[in-house]
Amino acid sequence: MIPALLSDIDRQGWSILPNFLSREEGPALAGECRTAWRGGEFHRAGVGKGAGLAIREDIRRDHVLWLDAAADAAPFQKIYLEKLEQLRLALNERFYLGLFDFEGHFAIYPEGAFYKAHLDRHQNTQERLLTVILYLNEHWLPGDGGELKLWTTQGQQDGPSEIIEPHMGTLVVFLAGDHWHEVLPAAKNRMSITGWFLTR
Ligand code: OGA
Ligand code: MN
Repeated sequence: MIPALLSDIDRQGWSILPNFLSREEGPALAGECRTAWRGGEFHRAGVGKGAGLAIREDIRRDHVLWLDAAADAAPFQKIYLEKLEQLRLALNERFYLGLFDFEGHFAIYPEGAFYKAHLDRHQNTQERLLTVILYLNEHWLPGDGGELKLWTTQGQQDGPSEIIEPHMGTLVVFLAGDHWHEVLPAAKNRMSITGWFLTR
């Protein structure tokens, strides 16, 4: 699995891996997400960073909860973070990227929610090098919407694109500052974990 991801990133800057988690791990992690959602732990996602952070319903309508490696009540979150740690080490070994950390959040897109086309690197920062998204939706059907549209030509929000359905266990990785992407409107609750490997 990791070797395929490394060669995809090397060749094209993006990779799509189905079944990154086992049949038990994926639904259990989705359960942790749902429990936190019901517990009111999520907040509306913003756009920008620091003093520039703003809620912009015209740009994105998801709700997020930052992961916490110390969350004892969330063993499957921990398992996912451990898998990402292995991925981080493999990426550094292969590409000498100096990735030193991962930051990520659960995201829920309620019915009708979307995220307009954007890049993931904040202005004037170099920190977010790779975007890593894991989908947590069982029984996602055509017509449920919520696809990720990923433009495959680096630096361009036009030309060829991939349309990725947010199926349980699918992992998507791409260069955060190079690939434009968009979340199409979801027709029902859509769950994921979005995060970034950071470099200095
Ligand atoms: C993001 C994002 C894509 C997705 O949170 O920055 O682009 O498919 N998410 O959830
Ligand atoms: Mn994004």
